[in-house]
Amino acid sequence: MASYLSVLVLLCLAAAASAQLSPTFYSTSCPRALATIRNAVTAAVAQEPRMGASLLRLHFHDCFVQASLTLSLLPNFDYGCDASVLLNDTATFKGEQGSLGNIGSIRGFGVIDNIKAAVEAVCPQTVSCADILAVAARDSVVALGGPSWTVPLGRRDSTTASLTQADSDLPPPNFDLANLTAAFAVKGLSRTDMVALSGAHTIGQAQCLNFRDRIYNETNINGAFASLRRGSCPRPTGSGDTNLAPLDTTTGTLFDNVYYSNLLSQKGLLHSDQVLFNGGATDSLVRTYATNPTRFNSDFAAAMIKMGNISPLTGTQGQIRRACSRVN
Ligand code: HEM
Ligand SMILES: *[C@@H]1O[C@H](CO)[C@@H](O)[C@H](O)[C@H]1NC(C)=O
Ligand SMILES: *[C@@H]1O[C@H](CO)[C@@H](O)[C@H](O)[C@H]1NC(C)=O
Ligand SMILES: *[C@@H]1O[C@H](CO)[C@@H](O)[C@H](O)[C@H]1NC(C)=O
Repeated sequence: MASYLSVLVLLCLAAAASAQLSPTFYSTSCPRALATIRNAVTAAVAQEPRMGASLLRLHFHDCFVQASLTLSLLPNFDYGCDASVLLNDTATFKGEQGSLGNIGSIRGFGVIDNIKAAVEAVCPQTVSCADILAVAARDSVVALGGPSWTVPLGRRDSTTASLTQADSDLPPPNFDLANLTAAFAVKGLSRTDMVALSGAHTIGQAQCLNFRDRIYNETNINGAFASLRRGSCPRPTGSGDTNLAPLDTTTGTLFDNVYYSNLLSQKGLLHSDQVLFNGGATDSLVRTYATNPTRFNSDFAAAMIKMGNISPLTGTQGQIRRACSRVN
């Protein structure tokens, strides 16, 4: 009974929190915010297409940490899309950049710092780093040819970060379908959301250490594709660990639905990619997205909005950081 009640209270709180976000949040306080972010993202992606992927992933890794439904009942709970990922280590906490899924991998901090500086120049201490991440993720997808959507705004920034929660909540690439489904369900995201959001791997790159086991040991992989990837990812652990390969082997810098066609031909780069099309419950959705780009685009956009609504700080919670890498 108590737990049903908690869940109910929680759902109300979650609904209240996301209801406070609004696309017009900065219309009067900072009318130039969105254009300032968009211009900076467009320039950064034009200079280096991969940056669009890196900025999209930053938002994902921000939202997925510190938002477990159970933990959110605790008084000192820290939140989801709260820019905690951007905080450097301090004397009082170790930040999330050193976590298993982030270290040596997550990038784009310099671009976010530049965007923040540009936004601070037009509206001092008004626009949160968490909102900048959400808008930059959308603008990155658009800059690489993907769908657009309206971003709900009004998130505030955390005053802390959690290395241990980043370690436990960011899904690793050796996850199977059930593990992935569970990791997304904990965040209130459905299996459809999970499959659609995985389509983010239509852009960006991964390091050899994250797909070595797959290209040497797995059997549900296209032979020519496996040999191609082995060419720059030597078998012994430790050699070539950081060598990069495109997550989408066909159109790696275009945000399209080709990621799913690759899965149909067993050319998913990560184990966690190919499990989405491996004889299980998500096969039919992968087929749908592979043949219906419009459906993928709309499901991806809807799932991004859901992900961006994961337990934000709102109202007077948290703060608006002046610099994204440290608390005020
Ligand atoms: C389904 C579970 C997921 C797993 C297991 C996963 C895992 C990974 C791994 C291992 C990499 C490569 C990191 C490296 O080698 O340095 C990666 C890259 C990336 N991920 Fe995911 N990911 C998942 C979901 C997502 C979601 C939901 C998004 C965004 C909506 C996303 C966006 C990206 C992007 C864009 C890159 C490339 C980043 C770059 O090139 O800088 N991923 N992911
Ligand atoms: C955070 O760390 C980065 C990388 O080490 C550094 O460039 C940046 O200046 C740091 N930010 C602050 C506010 O110290
Ligand atoms: C995935 O989930 C299964 C069943 O819950 C578990 O036994 C397995 O260890 C998990 N795999 C990983 C990589 O965590
Ligand atoms: C492949 O599987 C073998 C046997 O289980 C294991 O020893 C090896 O570390 C795995 N990975 C690679 C890259 O060969």
